[in-house]
Amino acid sequence: MFLDNPNNPTGTIIPRAELNDFIDRLPEHVVLALDEAYIDFVAASDRPDMNICADNPGVVFLRTFSKAYGLAGLRVGYGLMHAELAAFLHRVRQPFNINSLAQIGARAALTDHEHYRRTMDGNREGLVWLTKELTALDCLPYGSHTNFFMADVRVDAAGLYQMLLAQGVIIRSMAAYGYPDLVRITVGRGDENRRLIAAMIDVLGELR
Ligand SMILES: Cc1ncc(COP(=O)(O)O)c(C=O)c1O
Repeated sequence: MFLDNPNNPTGTIIPRAELNDFIDRLPEHVVLALDEAYIDFVAASDRPDMNICADNPGVVFLRTFSKAYGLAGLRVGYGLMHAELAAFLHRVRQPFNINSLAQIGARAALTDHEHYRRTMDGNREGLVWLTKELTALDCLPYGSHTNFFMADVRVDAAGLYQMLLAQGVIIRSMAAYGYPDLVRITVGRGDENRRLIAAMIDVLGELR
């Protein structure tokens, strides 16, 4: 079983107590893989206790360097799990699965605390600013534990997406998920966030 925590595209998390309760009730033959691609953006007190997998061979934590560390192009990540389960994976994994440069990049990223802190601070500030600006534009942004959030834009999201795209600004319409008025927006750098809001003012003015 795979669970996204935090979830993409909603930006929600599974509360710690609920997750523990769920794990306690998992049948023994089920392996639970927790996709924690966005866990760095979650407050430490809300993160699951990774020690769970030390006693439980049925729980795997999956992490990636693609998000908080910005290394998506290196294709590097890792899983934390019980040694017994890791031994099974070692039997079937590809022999050369992560290249040397990716490993060097990942190790360097783990020690670059300054860059990590700047990313976290920038994201937090961007999330607050975008939420405020979109609310002022009569959109309804949802709270998020990640570097993206959903918002009700009160217009056709697919149309909004196309018009923003024409201005070189890419968001994601949630129409394919069954939510025709919702979009998913990723927090960018300050200049990118300002550019998004300027484009939104323009496009919403036309659509409403
Ligand atoms: C929930 C989730 N897991 C994993 C990934 C991808 O991670 P990776 O770049 O390590 O394949 C994404 C991103 O696109 C994602 O949204």
